[in-house]
Amino acid sequence: MRVLTGIQASGKLHIGNYFGAMKPMIELQEHEELFTFIANYHSLTTSKDAKLLKQLTLDAAVDYLSLGINPEKTTFWVQSDVPQVLELYWILSKFTPMGLLERAHSYKDKVAKGIPANHALFSYPVLMAADILLLDTEKVPVGKDQIQHVEITRDIAIKFNNEYGDIFTLPEYIVEDNVATIPGIDGQKMSKSYNNAIDLFMDEKPLQKRCNKIISSSTPLGEALEPEGCNIYALASLFLDDSKKIELQERYRSGKEGYGHFKKYLKELIWEELAEAREKRAYYLDNMDIVNDILSDGAKKMHKISNAKMGVIREAVGLI
Ligand code: ADP
Ligand code: TRP
Repeated sequence: MRVLTGIQASGKLHIGNYFGAMKPMIELQEHEELFTFIANYHSLTTSKDAKLLKQLTLDAAVDYLSLGINPEKTTFWVQSDVPQVLELYWILSKFTPMGLLERAHSYKDKVAKGIPANHALFSYPVLMAADILLLDTEKVPVGKDQIQHVEITRDIAIKFNNEYGDIFTLPEYIVEDNVATIPGIDGQKMSKSYNNAIDLFMDEKPLQKRCNKIISSSTPLGEALEPEGCNIYALASLFLDDSKKIELQERYRSGKEGYGHFKKYLKELIWEELAEAREKRAYYLDNMDIVNDILSDGAKKMHKISNAKMGVIREAVGLI
């Protein structure tokens, strides 16, 4: 099954991103044909700083490779290294009724947040459709906010196919329903915009400090604690199998340990989980030429696939 994921590089990754999006995605490469790219043309719709956009693009590449994207199994590239997608974007624009884009929640939300309503922002879903259709993608794993974009992609593909024959594969979205919303240090959804995140790649001391800030109840030391509803427990349990969860629940209820102990334990769990990724990250940061080579190999593979597909599309619509 051909699966495509697009990543918007938006800075430091946190535990919520890791469990909610990255881990499930990286697991996919074990049994599906995974294609993953950094959507920097899309980021351009909201970026104001060239240097920062470049930096975020490379940071995302390093982070994803460190966390387990395996270039032997997964085709991994930067969107702007394969500009063929922009030609398809233009062709698809003709099959995109204005009303379809006017109904897009994501566009309306962004404008409501004060982002200037320009054409790139408005036509963002058409470029996403081009990413998806260029590759004959079958499945697109997305967060809930992106479902409508995959539906728009299907609508565009159906319109095109009705006019020119069966050129495009109709993609389906996959939503990770079984990943719970991961709480931040204040118990709300962890998000970089709420200043409540625990970042993935922190040094050990700041990581412990961050864990110490997790809000917990005020039960005094020596009394039994309740794991249910405790943010420290909710975060720790992400790293534990069932028997370890039960062990931790017993430690909570024994009354022998306080929240301070569990905050230390949580830090250990995070630190351990990311040990290998941290090592790889240090390696890639020291060897950016290797990262660039991986991205360039991915782009080369994409050029082949894209040129072949664009040949069929150009022929179908009559571009000589
Ligand atoms: P943020 O809210 O920090 O801006 P993004 O919107 O960039 O995060 O999230 C990228 C992906 O990470 C989302 O598609 C979502 O699947 C996942 N994700 C982010 N925060 C959480 C969370 N608290 N719990 C579960 N998944 C999350
Ligand atoms: N719009 C997606 C997001 O913000 C990123 C994206 C761009 C994408 N093109 C894609 C995701 C194609 C999947 C497939 O998260």
